[in-house]
Amino acid sequence: MVDIVPLSSYPSNIDLLPAIQTCNITNLPENYFLKYYLYHALTWPQLSFVAVMRPRNGYTKHTGPGGSADLSGQYPKVVGYVLAKMEEEPTDGMQHGHITSLSVMRTHRRLGIAERLMRMSQRAMAESHRAHYVSLHVRVSNNAALRLYRDTLGFEVDKVESKYYADGEDAYAMRMDLSGMWLDWSEIEKQDRERAKGDEKDADEGEPVGEMGKKDDKMVRVKVGRGLGVGDLVERNEAQQQSVS
Ligand SMILES: CC(C)(COP(=O)(O)OP(=O)(O)OC[C@H]1O[C@@H](n2cnc3c(N)ncnc32)[C@H](O)[C@@H]1OP(=O)(O)O)[C@@H](O)C(=O)NCCC(=O)NCCS
Repeated sequence: MVDIVPLSSYPSNIDLLPAIQTCNITNLPENYFLKYYLYHALTWPQLSFVAVMRPRNGYTKHTGPGGSADLSGQYPKVVGYVLAKMEEEPTDGMQHGHITSLSVMRTHRRLGIAERLMRMSQRAMAESHRAHYVSLHVRVSNNAALRLYRDTLGFEVDKVESKYYADGEDAYAMRMDLSGMWLDWSEIEKQDRERAKGDEKDADEGEPVGEMGKKDDKMVRVKVGRGLGVGDLVERNEAQQQSVS
């Protein structure tokens, strides 16, 4: 069983960086210093993902928030990764993501792992950074990767970059539009507020029973969650209010 986990999340999976580097060295001639992986994980923590083998007897430590795998202090086998970033100085002035590196170990290919890694990263680029598009380079001879990008994911060739690679091979510069994946946060917050209002109306606290029933204290309803607007968080100056009344 393979789990896909964010490279950097809470609790952090940064312990996995050396294994990701090994996976890269095993599969690709384009390699990087460890600090470059760390730079990605710290600067764009939502965008890189790693595929790990789930241990036969499950994870030895507790699970993280939302039941996610807590891999801190454990060294499960890394079988794939996608290392991604936001372009820091886009020449076209358009905020966009870039796939720095992607690979899957031979033992785990054609299982859909690369496709999942790519889709998760693309979604994060659109939702967290409102990326207009995602770009990448691929060797013109790399048929497997080309099929994945063009046929499975829907990338298009933007141009051919001559002698892009150190050994003189050309690269296809490819890109894929992500603007259709953006989230409309104002609409989501509006829906949250409406839902919170509905919950308030429908709230049925019932008759107090047992010890609670004997007390005269009245229950006080408090607002919680995202429905709480910034206005509600502004501290009131009680002293000033008293002097006015
Ligand atoms: C390219 C690579 C990442 C694909 O990983 P993967 O996990 O095997 O890919 P997936 O299983 O998600 O494949 C998704 C689709 O991509 C295409 N594809 C993947 N490998 C392919 C291959 N060897 N030949 C033809 N098409 C291939 C297929 O369309 C496949 O869908 P299908 O299996 O339903 O036919 C992997 O082969 C690899 O790590 N190669 C070496 C490193 C590399 O080239 N990285 C990319 C650098 S730009």
